[in-house]
Amino acid sequence: MQNSTSEYRLEMSGISKRFGVVSVLENVNLKVKHGEIHALLGENGAGKSTLMKILSGVHQKDAGRVVLNGKEIAPKNTHDGQVLGINVVYQELSLVNDLSVAENIYLHKLGASKFWMNWKKINKDAQELIDSLGFKIDATAKVRDLSIVQKQVVEIAKAISEDTEILVLDEPTTVFDPTDTQKLFDNLFKLKERGISIIYISHHLEEIFKIADTVTVLRDGVDTGSIPVKETDTDGVIQLMIGRKLEDLYPERNSTLGGAPIFEVKNLSAKDTLVHDVSFAVRPGEVLGIAGLGGSGRTETAKLIFGADRKKSGQIFLNGEEIATRSPSEAVDHNIGLVSENRKEEGVFLPLSIQKNISVTDFSAISGKFGFINAENESKNVNNLIEKLNIKTPSAEVPVKNLSGGNQQKVALAKWLSIDSKVILIDEPTRGVDVGAKVEIYSLINEVAQNGVGVIVISSDMPEIMGIADRILVMHEGTIYGELSKEEFTEENILRFAIGEPLKK
Ligand SMILES: Nc1ncnc2c1ncn2[C@@H]1O[C@H](COP(=O)(O)OP(=O)(O)OP(=O)(O)O)[C@@H](O)[C@H]1O
Ligand SMILES: [Mg+2]
Repeated sequence: MQNSTSEYRLEMSGISKRFGVVSVLENVNLKVKHGEIHALLGENGAGKSTLMKILSGVHQKDAGRVVLNGKEIAPKNTHDGQVLGINVVYQELSLVNDLSVAENIYLHKLGASKFWMNWKKINKDAQELIDSLGFKIDATAKVRDLSIVQKQVVEIAKAISEDTEILVLDEPTTVFDPTDTQKLFDNLFKLKERGISIIYISHHLEEIFKIADTVTVLRDGVDTGSIPVKETDTDGVIQLMIGRKLEDLYPERNSTLGGAPIFEVKNLSAKDTLVHDVSFAVRPGEVLGIAGLGGSGRTETAKLIFGADRKKSGQIFLNGEEIATRSPSEAVDHNIGLVSENRKEEGVFLPLSIQKNISVTDFSAISGKFGFINAENESKNVNNLIEKLNIKTPSAEVPVKNLSGGNQQKVALAKWLSIDSKVILIDEPTRGVDVGAKVEIYSLINEVAQNGVGVIVISSDMPEIMGIADRILVMHEGTIYGELSKEEFTEENILRFAIGEPLKK
C-alpha cells in the first residue's frame, strides 16, 4: 500500500462538505501522527465538529480522501468508524438516561455481537474502567441520576476501548472544573504513551498549550494550516482563528455601583442539596461573580434562588422587599432570570427555529410547567440579538439543531437576555464559546448591568470571572467561604477559598 510508511497515522486531504447550499468545509487537510495530541481549533461554526463527524462516519464527505494507517477509508456510519478504531466523545451528550453507566459504556461495543451478556462482568469492567480514569461513579447507577460532570466522564469512558487508534474529544472539558480537567489530561497523556492519536477540540486555549503537540486551525471551513504548538502562542493562535488580533478580551467596566442592593439573600438553605446559610447582596449595575470547585453548590444556589430547588429556610429580597420564589415561574414573575449551565439539556429546543427559541420562554425543563411569554417586536428583537451575539446562521428560521455547538449556546443565552430582568443569574456564560464570541457575551453582560440589572455570574473559568466581575464570592461545601474584592483577585486566592483555606497574609 502506498503511504504505509508515512509518519502520519491519519491523513485527511481535500475534504469538502456542504449541507444543502451551505458549504461547510472546503478542501480541508488534517494530518495526525502516531501518539500525538493534535489540537483542532476554530471559531464557532468553523467546521470542526463536522470534520470529525466525517472521520467517524456520522456524515459523508462530498470530496477528498481519508487515509488511516496507509489505507483509504470511508466509514458509512459510526459503527464502521468504531471498527476502524475511531472513537469520538461528541460535543452533544449521547447517553441513554434510562440505562446504567455500565450499559451505556458497553452496549454499543457489544451491540453488534449476539453474545449472551455477562452483566456481572460488564459491571465490573465498567467500574474498573471508571476507577482507572480516577473518577468516582457507581457503574450500576442510572445515567439520569448523574451530575453533568459525571455524565461527561461516562461519555469519555465509553469512547476509550482496547483497540482505539484515534480518539477524538470535542470540547470534553466544558463542564469540568480545574481538578477534573487535570485528571482528564493525566489520562490523555497515558493514552498518548500507548501510541493512541488524540484529536482535541477546545475553546480553552490555555489547555492547548498544556497538552497539544500540534495545532490545526479552521477558519470558515478552510484550514489555515498546522503548526507545532512550540512554535506559537495564544496571540498567534487567536490571529489564525479570527484573522485579526484581539485587543481586549474583557471589556472595560465602568461600573457605577451606588445605592441600596437590588437583590439580597439571607441565610438561604436548601431542603435537598448541600446549600446552606448563603447570604449576599447585589447592587444594581453590579456583576457579582460566584466561583468554586465543581460540587461546591454554585449551581444549586442559583437553582434555589430561581425556585427550581426547594428552600428549607432563609429569605430573598428584591428592592428591599421580601419575595418568595417557590417555582421558576414565580421567580420570572419577579423578573429574576436564570441562564442554566446545562444548556444542552435544558436551554434550547433543538427542533425549533432560533426565532422560536429566543422568543419563547419555557420552563418545562426545570419546573415541569409551561409558561409562554410572547416578546413584543419579536422578530426585530431576535435579529438584533443574532447580530449582537454574532450567531452564525443563514436566518432566524434555521432549526437550532443545525447550528454549531457554540452557536447553540449563544441562542440559549440570547433567550434569557431578551426578557426584562431585574436580576439575572448566568451559570457558565461562555461554555463552548469561541474567543471572539466571548468578547461579545462579556460586552452584553456589561450592557445588561449598565442598565441597572444585578448580574450574578457563576464561572469555573478563573481568568473569565476575574475579568468580568466587580466582586467574587467563593463557595466551598455548600456555603460562601470567602469574598474577594477586585484588588484581591488572583487565581491563588480563588483556589484557596475554594478548598476551604484562608488567604495567605
Ligand atoms: N446537520 C446540519 N445541517 C445544516 N447545517 C449544519 C449541520 N451541521 C452543521 N451545520 C453547519 O455547519 C457549520 C459548521 O458547524 P460545526 O458544528 O462543524 O462547527 P464547529 O466548528 O464544531 O463549531 P463549535 O465550536 O460552535 O462547536 C455551521 O455553520 C453549522 O450551522
Ligand atoms: Mg463543534
